[in-house]
Amino acid sequence: MRRLGILISGRGSNFIAIADNIRAGKLDAEIALVISNRLDAGGIEAARERGIRVVVIPSKGMSREDHDRAVIAELNQAEVDLVCLAGYMRLLSPEFIRAFPQRIINIHPSLLPAFPGLDAQQQALDYGVKVSGATVHLVTRELDGGPIVVQSAVPILFDDTVETLSARILIEEHKLYPVALRIV
Ligand code: GRF
Repeated sequence: MRRLGILISGRGSNFIAIADNIRAGKLDAEIALVISNRLDAGGIEAARERGIRVVVIPSKGMSREDHDRAVIAELNQAEVDLVCLAGYMRLLSPEFIRAFPQRIINIHPSLLPAFPGLDAQQQALDYGVKVSGATVHLVTRELDGGPIVVQSAVPILFDDTVETLSARILIEEHKLYPVALRIV
């Protein structure tokens, strides 16, 4: 059984989707720990409610390298097989990526390679594409640029706002991350 380390910065709805799939017996994995780089991340409470170990390592005021080293140490101590970025709003240092070769997974709210980086849903609306979606991919040094594991398309409706589109993509994200983990 694979041991997952999940990294979050916010509400952690993708983490919850993974946890629910495991609990329902749909995913043969175990969440060894959740790490948040923010004290105010909603996902922290969700982890505690589920009895999942959660460690908060605030990134504010720390260099990327020092912060990443602390996160790597926790992940190694918990003997994780896979690192899942789930709304983790930090760029990873080269050292982090080297520490878990081909074993870091990210979810991104667009059909990569279109619209990498921040505000992917707004980027899609601004460009005027008629289809966007979600992508789960392996993490390499290139931002949102690693090998794609699985994607799901979401139509963009005439009257979509960033909120309505984000919500519709998020529903797909929650289905997609467990699928990707099964494949990986
Ligand atoms: C998701 O849209 C994810 O694709 C992006 O950040 C958001 C995180 O949401 N990287 P949550 O914290 O999993 O609810």
